[in-house]
Amino acid sequence: MSLTGRHVLSSDLFGRDELERLFTLADLLTPVSRGRKVTRVLEGAVMASLFFEASTRTRLSCESAFLRLGGGVISSTGVEIMSIAKGESLADTSRVVSGYCDLIVMRHPLESAVHEFAAATNVPVINGGNGAGEHPTQALLDMFTLHREFSRTGRTLDGRRIALVGDLRHGRTVHSLMKLVTRYENLTIVCVAPEPLGMPVGLLELAESRGHRVQVSEQPETGLKDADLVYATRLQTERFADQPLPYSDAFRIDKALVSRVCREDAVIMHPLPRDSRAASNDLSTDLDEDPRLAIFRQTDAGIPMRMALFASVLGVADTIADSLRPAAWYRPDYTGPHDAPFYRNVGTNNR
Ligand code: NCD
Repeated sequence: MSLTGRHVLSSDLFGRDELERLFTLADLLTPVSRGRKVTRVLEGAVMASLFFEASTRTRLSCESAFLRLGGGVISSTGVEIMSIAKGESLADTSRVVSGYCDLIVMRHPLESAVHEFAAATNVPVINGGNGAGEHPTQALLDMFTLHREFSRTGRTLDGRRIALVGDLRHGRTVHSLMKLVTRYENLTIVCVAPEPLGMPVGLLELAESRGHRVQVSEQPETGLKDADLVYATRLQTERFADQPLPYSDAFRIDKALVSRVCREDAVIMHPLPRDSRAASNDLSTDLDEDPRLAIFRQTDAGIPMRMALFASVLGVADTIADSLRPAAWYRPDYTGPHDAPFYRNVGTNNR
C-alpha cells in the first residue's frame, strides 16, 4: 500500500510491512534529525499545524521534522485566537487552511473533529491526537523505539510480554499503540489499570482476534511481572470531571517496583508528559538514570519517524537516499545525564 496522499487518522492504516518500511526510512533520516546531515526533499512544501489542545512534543517535533525535510511551517495554537471563536465551522477552517499548505497536522479535544477536518480538506490530514481517540504518530514513534531497543539486544517484538499501565481508557496513545503492536506475533499483552480506567473492550478483542494472549490486571505489582516492555501513561484528568478514582500509589512506576518485578533487560517507555508533581502516581524520576528508561530516546525517535511519515505521505520517500549531504554547522557531541548511562553501555551509534 502506498501512503502517498493518504490521511493518517488512525494507526489502523499501518500493517507490519508499512511499519518496517517506515523504520528503514527513519533510520536513514536519523542523521538529519540529529543535525548531522541535510536533505531538502520537501523544499517549497508547506505544513500547517493546527493545535486546538495543549501540546509540546507533537507540535514541535512535527514542525521540526517538516523543517528538517526542507519544508516550511505555518501554525496556529488554541481556539481562542482562531476564527472558530467567531463561529466558523471546522469544515470551513479545514477547507480554508488546505488552500495555504500541502499537509495539515491537527489536534483537537473532540474525537470527531479530525474526521470532519479530513472530509473538508484538499490536502492530507495527520491526526496529532483527537480527544481520547487516537494518536497515530505517537504510536509510530513508539514502535520505532521498540524496534530499536529490542534489536539492539538481538530481540524482536514478536513473543514479548508487554505491560500497558495507567489510564488506558482515556489515553489515546495506548489506543493507537494496541493497533500497531498487535500487527506482530505471539504477544502477551497485560493491561494494568483500575477497572474504571481499563482498556476499551474493542481493543482487547482486537488483540485476541489477532492471536495474542490478553490479560487484564488492577495491580502493577503482578501486572508488570516479567515484562519485556512497560509502557506507562499519565492519568488524563482533563478528560473526565473531578471524581475520586481508585488510583493509588501502587501506580507509581518507580525504581523499586521495576527492579522487583520486571526483567533486567526491560524497556520502560512513556509517551510523556509525565506528571512529576509530588502527589502524582506516574512514572517516577528516580528511574531517570536507569539505562532501561527509554523515554528520551523515544522523544528523539519522534523526529526521524515523523520525517519518514511526511516524506511518504508527500511521495518523496524514494528520493531521500540520494539527497543527503553533510550538515555544515557545529553540533556538540554531548551526552547529558539522562543518556550517559545508556550510551556507556551501547556506544554512540544511532544517537
Ligand atoms: C500524549 C497526548 O497528548 O496524548 N502526549 C503526547 O503527545 N506525547 C500523552 C498525554 O498527554 O498524556
